[in-house]
Amino acid sequence: MKEVLKKIIPDRLIKLYHSERKHSLKKLRNIPEDERVHFDSTTVNAGHFNVKYRGISAIKCPFDYVMYQMIISELKPDLVIEIGTNYGGGALYLADLMEITGEGMIHSIDIVKKTGSMVTHHPRIKLFTDGWEKYDLSEAKNFSKILVIEDASHMYGDTLAALRKFSPLVSVGSYLIVEDGIMNDLNKEKGFHGGPLRAIREFLAENKNFEVDRTYCDMFGKNATWNVNGYLKKVG
Ligand SMILES: C[S@@+](CC[C@H](N)C(=O)[O-])C[C@H]1O[C@@H](n2cnc3c(N)ncnc32)[C@H](O)[C@@H]1O
Repeated sequence: MKEVLKKIIPDRLIKLYHSERKHSLKKLRNIPEDERVHFDSTTVNAGHFNVKYRGISAIKCPFDYVMYQMIISELKPDLVIEIGTNYGGGALYLADLMEITGEGMIHSIDIVKKTGSMVTHHPRIKLFTDGWEKYDLSEAKNFSKILVIEDASHMYGDTLAALRKFSPLVSVGSYLIVEDGIMNDLNKEKGFHGGPLRAIREFLAENKNFEVDRTYCDMFGKNATWNVNGYLKKVG
């Protein structure tokens, strides 16, 4: 019965029902209006566009900063390939973490150059501005523990093609992180032809040596991340 209801009632109505229920329960508990807590993917999404790291736009969900920090300090990759630099706040955050662990370089790829001097001249960041399609995989040949982050156009076709190109570089035990699968929850995936989640589904069906690491995806609640099902661990 529950499964049948799930199929016929749109996700958004189910969410609305749960949030109204929570709201009513809080009213019953007499929590004053100005002390109530309310946030969900829509409110976090609005806020995450304002996130800056050391003054530079770094568009990520706050939960994912914690996850990245754990992955960098536990894995200690010697190369992080970031596909999609934008202003470079994300790259700078990772580069600073790597400075602390004392290891590693970032190859950050975009199709435009928007980075200021702090990112451009960071000793652990090398920028590429010809797009991931033109990144020569031999750039990674002298590295042995490689982590790849896909954070570019988020179009289904581009994402899948990038995953296919870069996945062979990922070391066993390391990650291929696919950003922004949250767009389905935000009801935006149609404009991206299905977006990252459609790409992830197809990629996993054809690559049995990657699996979703639920430890990271579900750390703060089921897929409480912008990288929904997007922490892909290479297991073989
Ligand atoms: C969401 S932003 C990246 C955000 C960044 N990773 C951060 O943490 O702040 C996406 C970026 O992907 C870039 N992009 C689009 N197509 C690309 C391509 N073919 N290759 C590399 N980057 C691309 C866009 O120019 C844009 O700057």
